[in-house]
Amino acid sequence: AAAAAVRAELLRWYDANRRDLPWRRAAEPGRGGRGEEERAYAVWVSEVMLQQTRVPVVVDYYSRWMARWPTVHSLAAATQEEVNEMWAGLGYYRRARFLLEGAKQIVQKGKFPHTASALCKVRGIGDYTAGAIASIAFNEAVPVVDGNVVRVISRLYAIPDNPKESSTVKRFWKLTGQLVDPSRPGDFNQAMMELGATLCSKTKPDYPQVVPKAKPRSDFAAVCVVQIAQELD
Ligand code: ADE
Repeated sequence: AAAAAVRAELLRWYDANRRDLPWRRAAEPGRGGRGEEERAYAVWVSEVMLQQTRVPVVVDYYSRWMARWPTVHSLAAATQEEVNEMWAGLGYYRRARFLLEGAKQIVQKGKFPHTASALCKVRGIGDYTAGAIASIAFNEAVPVVDGNVVRVISRLYAIPDNPKESSTVKRFWKLTGQLVDPSRPGDFNQAMMELGATLCSKTKPDYPQVVPKAKPRSDFAAVCVVQIAQELD
């Protein structure tokens, strides 16, 4: 599929189907007078929580976390014990430790890094989190590649490569980097992740529900699930 068509269809699907999540509201420019650094912090916290935890669970933890530490400065002043207590139940405590260490680093620097490459230098922030923050909070046209994105892209382009190999993952970062919508990179990346997490799921893609309502072949999600259905046949 041509990049322009994929972008347009994907964003159209996302605009019509996006879930209203607290960190999405927080990331919107102009809502509640938030500056982009506050948005970056909100995106960071949510993306780290989402790394090993499902969305409905994250919603509660995220809301409590942001009520307690609404800014990177307030988090930097917290203790490891307080942070662990807030994290209790989420598992993988390394994530909580990195959030606190990262917050201290950022406050020490005096400025929230604005680009993916600068964000990668913060403790605990890797390519994925850096791409999410840079694209969603700062509108940098960089990709985000997780398991969901790999699945969507491999189905869309019928790429048979083994996603467990590092050379494949590298190739997907490159491919997605060329595809990301330069005017709405944050929405594009979230749409990719959301499509992979919902309709374009690993097993049982939502085929019967989508196709009758969709104009066949013109709806991105429908095209995606049609391909999946063919794969499964
Ligand atoms: N999974 C992890 N982060 C996400 C996001 N921002 N949107 C949708 N799914 C996600």
